Order: sequence, then structure tokens, then C-alpha cells
Amino acid sequence: MTYQTGFMANQGLIPQLCGRGDLFVSDELNHGSIIDGVRLSHADRAIFKHKDAEDFARVMKEAEKHKPSYEHIWILTDGVFSMDGDLAPLPEIAKIAKEYGAGVYVDDAHGEGVLGEGGRGIVNHFNLSRDEVHVEMGTFSKAFGVIGGHISGGEDLRNFAYNKSRTWLLSGAMSPGVAAACIAAIDVLESEPRHVRKVWENREYFIKALKDLGFDTGNSETPIVPVMCGESKKAKDLANFIWKRGIFSLPIVYPMVSRDKARIRTQLSAKHTNEQLDKAVEAFEEGGKKLGLI
Ligand SMILES: Cc1ncc(COP(=O)(O)O)c(C=O)c1O
Repeated sequence: MTYQTGFMANQGLIPQLCGRGDLFVSDELNHGSIIDGVRLSHADRAIFKHKDAEDFARVMKEAEKHKPSYEHIWILTDGVFSMDGDLAPLPEIAKIAKEYGAGVYVDDAHGEGVLGEGGRGIVNHFNLSRDEVHVEMGTFSKAFGVIGGHISGGEDLRNFAYNKSRTWLLSGAMSPGVAAACIAAIDVLESEPRHVRKVWENREYFIKALKDLGFDTGNSETPIVPVMCGESKKAKDLANFIWKRGIFSLPIVYPMVSRDKARIRTQLSAKHTNEQLDKAVEAFEEGGKKLGLI
């Protein structure tokens, strides 16, 4: 199913999956559109520590003791976390969820076009099946370079969502031109796998250069590469500095991340050339030295 945006997909489907007497279990660093989707429901909610499968198991154990028993439990997680570029431990989550008969919903906004065979996303990357991860949500606004959201799942889920998902039912669909651009982007991804290889090559090239200079690139496991700066002012100053050198990369500061974890979030594209990446690294080097980051 397609939606106007990824945000609308999360807003439209999540609140329908759980109601009173049900439970959402959510990674503490999930995207705001997941959080708002949960807020729109009447279900209970529980949070587990970021990427922590053990803590997730603890939450599920606690949930089992709840009286009266929860009727439905859904686990919600980003696939790739947008601020750090790190991956959800989806195989462990899916395994534990199965033990409790819970549904698994992954927001793969940053995994599509990047992870898995030909960019098929995190579920493919981990070789998981529809029985293990029941909903894959995504967006056309990242790797696809268009706009729009989407949900995939089994037939039952689709029939349910057609009748229940309010942002799908009660708001306009994407326009034909946008739909055509989304289809064209999928065609490119399916027929030209070199773009997925290239974005990873660029990522390896760039992160190595930054690390060699002594930058802290956080927990990145993907082409989202944070350049950690500490306090917000440093991140803003560094972003301004590199902007003057012709490099556009936005600072991410409190409250989007905690106060001491401000960063510049760089995102590699398959279209970057080595010359461009060298220029970016030079700008980071000069700015990083000036601000005492390296
Ligand atoms: C993890 C995640 N989910 C959902 C969204 C929302 O997607 P869209 O831009 O299509 O509304 C974003 C984008 O900001 C995101 O990073």
C-alpha cells in the first residue's frame, strides 16, 4: 500500500494495530512518526533500551505477567536508526517476538535501497521472512529520491489496512506523476544494482578517511555517517564552516539527540565522486582542527 509520505504510513497503520488491552513495545530511539503513531492509539506502551535484545526480552517477560493478559502485542523498531546509522537487531527481536506470539513492525526508511540484495532492505539483509517480520514500512523520500510512503505485509494485513488505515482511507493518494517517479526509481534499483554497491563503496571510502583523521563516527553501520561533535554549538560551527567550503551537511542538535551527542549527520550517495568526498574530508579536517575535534 502506498501513502502520501512515510510519516503518514506510520500514522495511518500503527494506531490500528493495537487498541485498549493491547501493547506496543518500542525501541527508545524510534523515529518520531512511530512515536506519534503509538500516541494515536489507546494501547499500553513499553520501551526497551536502544538495540538491546536482552532488555527487549525483559520487557516481553514483564508484559506476559500483565493482568488481564494483553490480547495483541506489536514490536516497533526502525531498521536503520536515522541519527546514528546503526541497525536494529532484527533477527533477535523476531525470535523473541515469535516466542510470545507478537507482531513485528519494522520502519525501513533508511534500509531500502541500501541493505540487502539490490537494496531490498533490512528484512532481506537478515534473510528473515514474512512470518518473522510482519510489516515492512518504508518511504520513497530517501534512497528512491521521490516522496511517498509504503507498507508491505501479508494479504490479511493488506485487507485490514485497506479498511482501517485512516491516512490511506481519508486523505488523497499520491498524484500520478509522483507514482510514476516512484515506479521509475524502483525500476532503476531493480535493473541497476551498481548503485547499491557504489553507495557502500562511497561509505567505506568516506568513513575510513574520517576515522584516519581521528573523527568519532559514532555507531554507524550504514551510509549514514555521523560526525560526533559533543555540544550543539560545535556541531553548528562545524556545519557552518564546511558550508563555506561548499559542503552541505546539517547539524543534528538537542532535542533531536541528547545534549552531549550533537553531530553532523552525513549521508553518502551513490552519485558522490571520490573528488567530492576528498573535498568534504578536507573541509572536515580543516574545521575539525579549528574546533579542536581532532
Ligand atoms: C525512520 C524514518 N521513518 C519515517 C520517516 C518519514 O518518512 P517521510 O519523509 O516519507 O515522511 C523518516 C523520515 O524522516 C524516517 O527517518
